[in-house]
Amino acid sequence: MKRVFFILVVVALLVTACGGGGGEKTAPAEQPSVQGDAARGEALFKQNTIGGAPGCITCHSLEPGKTLVGPSLAGVATRAADVIKSPDYKGKAKSVEEYLRESIVDPNAYVVKGFSPNLMYQNYGKDLSAQEIADLVAFMMTLK
Ligand code: HEC
Repeated sequence: MKRVFFILVVVALLVTACGGGGGEKTAPAEQPSVQGDAARGEALFKQNTIGGAPGCITCHSLEPGKTLVGPSLAGVATRAADVIKSPDYKGKAKSVEEYLRESIVDPNAYVVKGFSPNLMYQNYGKDLSAQEIADLVAFMMTLK
């Protein structure tokens, strides 16, 4: 009888040890409802059209300094950090991520120096899904 009890204790300890190590990760409390995926965002960015609207790549090069209709987005994530701190910035973004999102859904909230308002397509906020916007933002966050 003693031996059975001993085996039970060992089994119980093993189960606890294994259960504790792996398994379910607890999700952080404030996870945004949609998680952006940079690879998907890159593919979307490079499409010539997005759901009937002109594609980002038709106006934005990813080569440093190469201006098409809009500014090159090479290094945009680094630049944006300075823009939101500058006195000229009148948009609502408090972080680079928010700035990039705002640039898509409300392009005139801040117009990049040297460019005119209303040049960028204005209806992405309506045309694109929350997931697509999150993916594009995740991609642009990698452009440092
Ligand atoms: C018809 C041309 C055009 C298209 C299409 C376009 N943009 Fe723009 N974009 C511009 C212009 C012009 C500016 C600069 C003026 C301004 O800030 O609105 C700009 C500015 C931006 C900025 C701010 C850049 C900076 O240096 O701060 C981001 C980010 C951006 N666009 C992302 C996108 C994304 C993502 C797409 C695709 C979903 C897109 N744009 C599609 C013309 C375009």
